[in-house]
Amino acid sequence: MTERFNHAAAEWDKGDTRQQIAQAVFQTITSRVALLNHMDILDFGCGTGLLSFKIAPLVRSVTGVDLSEKMLEQLEAKNTDSLRVTPLCRDIMKEPLDKTFHGIVSSMAMHHVEDLPGLFKTFRSCLKKDGFVALADLEAEDGTFHTHGNDGVHHFGFEREKLRTIIEDAGFGNVRFHHAHTVVQESGAYPIFVVTATKG
Ligand SMILES: C[S@@+](CC[C@H](N)C(=O)[O-])C[C@H]1O[C@@H](n2cnc3c(N)ncnc32)[C@H](O)[C@@H]1O
Repeated sequence: MTERFNHAAAEWDKGDTRQQIAQAVFQTITSRVALLNHMDILDFGCGTGLLSFKIAPLVRSVTGVDLSEKMLEQLEAKNTDSLRVTPLCRDIMKEPLDKTFHGIVSSMAMHHVEDLPGLFKTFRSCLKKDGFVALADLEAEDGTFHTHGNDGVHHFGFEREKLRTIIEDAGFGNVRFHHAHTVVQESGAYPIFVVTATKG
């Protein structure tokens, strides 16, 4: 999977679709969660930072974690003196972080992670008391969203109630789903949600 993203990194930001998803996810997150200037935020599966750089001006810091060095190189190239996202190439499920965050955001990365209970357990351990998650991904789909194939895709989107149970079982409360965007392509229409929850 990482090879796939390393290969796609240079072209990742081109075209409208990913920019539109990031903008819609950002708007949905900011309409549901107060992002404040004392907050340290983690963007899980940040890629080239399409979401991270929208959030960075609102908060104290954004750390973008990803497994793909090439995606993170693209992110690093966007850093300026006035707007920075800290790139981190690490599997946080295997190698825990040495700091905690006020919130975790993510866009379109969860479906690439096989062990979702493990992911949410990791998220919980990365958060400060009362910390939040705000995570965007596909509603359940039929496997046709990824037009270049499903290598590294562990979930064809998510059924809300099954995901809610996983999130609650990991120790989160106030689980809420919000519609964010619909991607329309030749193979169909694919709604995207943002799920928000707080560390219980
Ligand atoms: C579909 S891309 C989304 C990138 C970015 N969030 C965006 O919206 O443009 C998924 C990203 O998640 C990363 N990823 C997948 N599994 C991961 C994991 N276990 N830990 C960190 N990053 C992961 C991939 O390397 C890839 O950059």
